[in-house]
Amino acid sequence: MNITFRQLEVFEAVARLLSYTQASKELHLSQPAVSMQIKQLEESTGIPLFEKMGRKIYLTEAGREMYHYSRTISHQLEEAEEVLEQLKGLQTGKLEITVATTANAFATRMLAMFNKQHVGVTVSLDVTNREHLLRQIAANEKDIAIMGRPPEDADLVTESFADNPLVVVASPDHPLAHEKHIPLYRLQNQTFVVREQGSGTRTAMQRFFDQHNLRVTSSMEMNENEAIKQAVQAGMGLGVVSIHTIELELETNRLVILDVEDFPIMRHWYLVHRREKRLAPMAQAFKSFVLTEGRKLIPSLGGNEK
Ligand code: PGA
Repeated sequence: MNITFRQLEVFEAVARLLSYTQASKELHLSQPAVSMQIKQLEESTGIPLFEKMGRKIYLTEAGREMYHYSRTISHQLEEAEEVLEQLKGLQTGKLEITVATTANAFATRMLAMFNKQHVGVTVSLDVTNREHLLRQIAANEKDIAIMGRPPEDADLVTESFADNPLVVVASPDHPLAHEKHIPLYRLQNQTFVVREQGSGTRTAMQRFFDQHNLRVTSSMEMNENEAIKQAVQAGMGLGVVSIHTIELELETNRLVILDVEDFPIMRHWYLVHRREKRLAPMAQAFKSFVLTEGRKLIPSLGGNEK
């Protein structure tokens, strides 16, 4: 059988509409051109595909079989086209990501892993605090955000993928450094180095202390976890930070986690984007990557969000 895609396309339209006139309109062809394509197709198949009764045309049994196969072939072609388009989009593409200051370390690690699998990707990574990040998403400036618990907002798609425990850190020579089971009230008179207003860590810490009717003094306010860690190491007070920011300091014994009752404050990491955002193939691939690999990268400690 020597048939062309064009013949199949014309046949599919005539068989579906059971009318040469309508098929020719749909295909923007003249009616004789449509008849000619069908005639050639019937010559190739060697069997009539339509029969005429009065002014109407009907599919013969062979025509019905052919209709079934022509539809399958055109669906397969459409699918192939879609897959190839996606692959084209995946080979190159831009990714606009914004992450909470605290998520910076592991988000950068995840991006590096993703980059190895998608060499054509260009990433623009913004590291900022929660408040600013929410403004960026609302203004549709970024594809995807990685942040602490997002606000309840029907316009946002939010997916939690990992734990984010907040702990109390001290320098190793702090008087509480080696105590076990420190009751919460002992923090009452302690001085803290805290994150800036608008930080998710700061809000969670404040909420936690308020819930426990605890008043703590803050000696200094800083908009970088790095600065907090330095200040705590220098003995300027205690800090409340995400466990994901202190891996190195714990290893090198420059900071210790205090064993305080009711800690850690359990937060979670979320991947967030606007509901109506049409994620490009690269952004979609990054989303799937975070939701699968991100889960593996950060082991779950369990526990509910506070
Ligand atoms: P932050 O966000 O870096 O703004 O503190 C982290 C969080 O929301 O837990």
